[in-house]
Amino acid sequence: MRSVINFNQGWLYAARDLALSAPDSGFVPVTIPHSNALLPHHNFDVSDYAFISTYRKRFTLPEAAGQRRVFLDFDGVMTACEVFLNGQRLSEQDGGYVPFSIEITNQLRAGENVLQVRVDSTEREDIPPFGYVVDYLTFGGIYRDVTLRYVEPIHIQDAFVRSHDVLTDAPRAELDLWIRNDMAAAVEVAVNWICDYEAREDALANLVLADPLEERILIPAHTTLQHTCALDVAAAKRWSLDDPQRITCEIMLSAALGQDIVEDSTTITFGLREAEFRPDGFYLNGDKLKLRGLNRHQMYPYIGIAAPERLQRKDADILKYELGCNIVRTSHYPQSPHFLDRCDEIGLLVFEEIPGWQFVGDSDWKALVLRDVQAMIERDRNRPSIIIWGVRVNESWDDDALYAATNELAHKLDPTRPTGGVRYFQESTFLEDVFTFNDFSNTIVAPQHTPHLVTEFGGHMFPTKTFDNEERQVEHALRHARIQNAAAGRYDVTGAIGWCAFDYNTHVEFGAGDRVCYHGVMDMFRLPKLAAYVYESQIDPKQRIVLRPGTFYAFGDRNNYGAESDCAFYVFSNCDEIEVFIGDDSLGRIQPDREGFGHLPHPPFKVGDGYLWQSQRLRVPDARITGYYNGHPVAEVALATDKLPRALTLAADDDELRADGIDMTRLAFQVVDKFGLRLPHAHAVVTFEVEGEADLIGVNPFPLVGGQAALYLKARHVSGGVTVHATAHPYGFTAQARVTIGQDSI
Ligand code: GAL
Repeated sequence: MRSVINFNQGWLYAARDLALSAPDSGFVPVTIPHSNALLPHHNFDVSDYAFISTYRKRFTLPEAAGQRRVFLDFDGVMTACEVFLNGQRLSEQDGGYVPFSIEITNQLRAGENVLQVRVDSTEREDIPPFGYVVDYLTFGGIYRDVTLRYVEPIHIQDAFVRSHDVLTDAPRAELDLWIRNDMAAAVEVAVNWICDYEAREDALANLVLADPLEERILIPAHTTLQHTCALDVAAAKRWSLDDPQRITCEIMLSAALGQDIVEDSTTITFGLREAEFRPDGFYLNGDKLKLRGLNRHQMYPYIGIAAPERLQRKDADILKYELGCNIVRTSHYPQSPHFLDRCDEIGLLVFEEIPGWQFVGDSDWKALVLRDVQAMIERDRNRPSIIIWGVRVNESWDDDALYAATNELAHKLDPTRPTGGVRYFQESTFLEDVFTFNDFSNTIVAPQHTPHLVTEFGGHMFPTKTFDNEERQVEHALRHARIQNAAAGRYDVTGAIGWCAFDYNTHVEFGAGDRVCYHGVMDMFRLPKLAAYVYESQIDPKQRIVLRPGTFYAFGDRNNYGAESDCAFYVFSNCDEIEVFIGDDSLGRIQPDREGFGHLPHPPFKVGDGYLWQSQRLRVPDARITGYYNGHPVAEVALATDKLPRALTLAADDDELRADGIDMTRLAFQVVDKFGLRLPHAHAVVTFEVEGEADLIGVNPFPLVGGQAALYLKARHVSGGVTVHATAHPYGFTAQARVTIGQDSI
């Protein structure tokens, strides 16, 4: 049988280029995923991580290999690496965004083996995205999981499901199998498979559990044979955004080799859904769906790109449940399988694209582009969440030969999905299935080609920090609202994906100079700016009521919002109507601004006008906003005028972590007023102490950024309770968060 064993534990690390003969004393113990440097969240330099480092792992094989072949599977090493086993150089990999496998069968020894990986995290001009400037940082290290895999000499190498007739009563699926025979003679294999899924109610009555199916296939010697089987999924529920039903298929293979029976099995997960871009819109399972989303970079404060499974999954949750997005673009590279797993599980659509940024290099560089197309699609083509492949280097100039080749390759590897290629000029040769366009016009321009999807807007047009004044933050929010509204109002635009979800680290040529692009609707800690509420308030009120004041309710800092708007403030909400009380005076029931934002499911509310604000200016009392849904009051939020800090809040995203030496949760903290709302200009310093067996990742003491920030709590290899104590200076507020470190899985 095959064995697949997590290989993240027990590594040694040195932030230097060390020889194979260097003693272990020059290394420190680490767990993968690992960042080659821990950094502050801003104000650092590329040279702080762009160096060559060395990883080493001593191991004895956890199981005897027997006749099996043994592989190391790396999910991602940034930017390039060379792998050595027992003193012998096995291979190299260029490019940190796609996985690679190395066979180690013939170099393994009985007893101890020494694996060494020389990781080059410099900005290698021969590897995408490098060659010119890039508006993001790549960071470094063995930053995604490593796995040890044993397979029999006859084994399933790959499996891809293509579904058909998904909207009928009898959907079908075909399973493409690639079966490898390493033996010197042809071998007949028996292949069985069994699908596990939830059945549709209308299908239950007629459901006959089919006997496990079996096919016998002859695989020639030293050959990988592709074979297609039919899967019985006629009764399976479909995958949708509200009910993301996944189907698991266990595929089993057996073959007689002399007296021995060789067996192999693998499990894949897929979903039945029809996703179509048409000239008049995007359709999911036959229903028109306006795509509304944000771009995601995979960067985090302090740890760069080395975020473990839990943080990766959390980002998908934030995008769907906190920001109400139905799509995310993995700008500008394939992202973590953990992130994508969660997108599949919760029903969040994905635009996945190859690495690169505004630059195309020489023929070797282009060969890596094609390699990336192949690696991305082969890794992710069973995922129901992925609805389009981005096969152009983001915003590069036309290169018709290259992009004809990437499109052809994508269609060959996956005939079920359309391609896109992100550019910023409409005159570009349209070689893909969907015209994917970065529209920085501050509105939505008329498409020249359809289907048309806006893949970026906003961003550098109006960077906004959590500590900017209200006027700027409101304008930032309204730009997102206006552009999403414009996209929603055009039948010939399938949707809009804004730039971007989270602030991110960047090169000195971009951003605010402190190595941060403040382009997110959330900051890099994934904490909201006012623009986040534009997205959040589009959530269906049946799922969750949202009522967010689009104001800091402070008076001297908000003279006017310019000609466009003299209103007192905005409220972002999915309520039907709201009522605002200034002190005890009601401003009456207020309707959403359908005139300004009528295409959004839930337009923002404009409250009062400048005159009202001015007249009350000398003695403005506290305010209260009540949200009504179906005629009933369902939510209330209060706004304080005194603006005094009253408490420090500290919250861990998770109550429990795994004792695996790498699991992490976010610890978010804020200084709040008497009603619990963040004070965006509270620059308090917060100190932390950990009681128990866990480590803080981040800066301690921490000076707040816009009244908020976050650190991470990282598990060691020890179970038990952990309490984090925080104190805000100079106020003396304290707060605690408790987390249990246990053995449970995520
Ligand atoms: C785009 C680019 C993004 C980001 C953005 C900033 O041109 O594709 O990566 O740099 O601008 O607004």
